[in-house]
Amino acid sequence: MIGRLNHVAIVVPDVAAASAVYRDTLGTRVSAPHPLPAHGVTVVFVELPNTKIELLEPLGDASPVRAFLDRNPNGGMHHLCYEVDDIVAARDRLCAAGARVLGDGEPRLGAHDKPVLFLHPKDFCGTLIELEQTASA
Ligand code: CO
Repeated sequence: MIGRLNHVAIVVPDVAAASAVYRDTLGTRVSAPHPLPAHGVTVVFVELPNTKIELLEPLGDASPVRAFLDRNPNGGMHHLCYEVDDIVAARDRLCAAGARVLGDGEPRLGAHDKPVLFLHPKDFCGTLIELEQTASA
């Protein structure tokens, strides 16, 4: 059901410092920082040949990644994002299998302005999973 790995998200305390690590030490192409107040993060996109890395720094007191950074002050891997063709069909299938969707269960527009959902890490091997609908259906 799931398709390509769209991105791996890493929460960091300082997105500029993290950008320098990925650009200068790891030799990748990194975007400028994008503040996304509606999502409570500043994001830098790292382009790899086969996927993307998203470096996320909390933005604002209500940031959804603030508590994660409090528990992981040096930063850490936050979630994996898998692509699906039809996010509502995927959600219904997963819920029927007993998986829990975070929030109210309705897809919201994510950082790429495409519909996304998050799945409870306890149902998926201890890993927070984001599903992103990539088809234009
Ligand atoms: Co994501």
